[in-house]
Amino acid sequence: MSMNEPSKTTQSSAGPANTSADTKTPTIRLEGVHKTYDLGEIQVHALRGVSMEVYPGEFVAVMGASGSGKSTLMNIVGCLDRPSKGRYFLDGKDVSSLTKNELARIRSQKIGFVFQQFNLLARTSALENVELPTIYSGVPIEEREKRARESLVRVGLADRSGHFPSQLSGGQQQRVAIARALVNNPSLLLADEPTGNLDSRTSVEIMDIFQRLNKEQGLTVVIVTHEPDIAQYAKRAVEFRDGRLKKDILIQDRLIAAEVLPTLPSADEDLVEGIASGNHSPNPGGNGAPH
Ligand SMILES: Nc1ncnc2c1ncn2[C@@H]1O[C@H](COP(=O)(O)OP(=O)(O)O)[C@@H](O)[C@H]1O
Ligand SMILES: [Mg+2]
Repeated sequence: MSMNEPSKTTQSSAGPANTSADTKTPTIRLEGVHKTYDLGEIQVHALRGVSMEVYPGEFVAVMGASGSGKSTLMNIVGCLDRPSKGRYFLDGKDVSSLTKNELARIRSQKIGFVFQQFNLLARTSALENVELPTIYSGVPIEEREKRARESLVRVGLADRSGHFPSQLSGGQQQRVAIARALVNNPSLLLADEPTGNLDSRTSVEIMDIFQRLNKEQGLTVVIVTHEPDIAQYAKRAVEFRDGRLKKDILIQDRLIAAEVLPTLPSADEDLVEGIASGNHSPNPGGNGAPH
């Protein structure tokens, strides 16, 4: 599936179109993927022939109404499930018919997965939560804690490593979950409605982390969201309807979370933060530059 050409009005911050796309191996390549859930009496056709590619360094938002097949897609892309029909190539390798164990191994090497509900272990510290995937992936025991600490640094939570999930805000819990997803150094980060349980400022903070990982560390990022505002932080959006891919567009006027955050009211202070220039505020005192 080819991407649309960016129009001349595309901001440079939207990122270049992937001009060398056809010479590179796609990270994700789906060919006629179907998924049918067999419930005995009835069969649910969750995906009805999906073909698409995602290239290294892309940042894709998967959109669509509830029930349109987004999570089913993510579970297949994340090697948590297999297609009923069609093929999935991950980094050029056909993984559609691997066994569960083989899929689990590939998943732990290449993929980080973030969920809407964070899915942290409650009686386990942030550090230990982040460390868990290193056990399954066979990182030597003496390296695990170091790797987990580095991962917490990447999401700005080094100072919360001893906290339990109940002692952290929703946004902090999601950052722990992102650190856990990063601990095995995946090249592909998948997130299914990562901001679905978060307020709007915290959601932008999470998008800031994803944008930095994508830009500074070259991670390929695919997130599910039904919020158009959140999709504006991606580089490309695909929309599903009834198990089919209906739209595939480059994001115009992409938002950069690091630029938006200073314009939002602070979460824990009653400060009215400066309003970004270009946003013509009637309040003469509220035109401070972003800091
Ligand atoms: N494990 C399952 N068993 C049976 N049906 C399922 C299962 N998971 C999802 N479905 C059905 O498949 C369709 C797509 O679901 P899903 O992929 O979760 O959509 P979305 O994430 O877009 O809301 C829905 O009709 C849903 O009810
Ligand atoms: Mg879903």
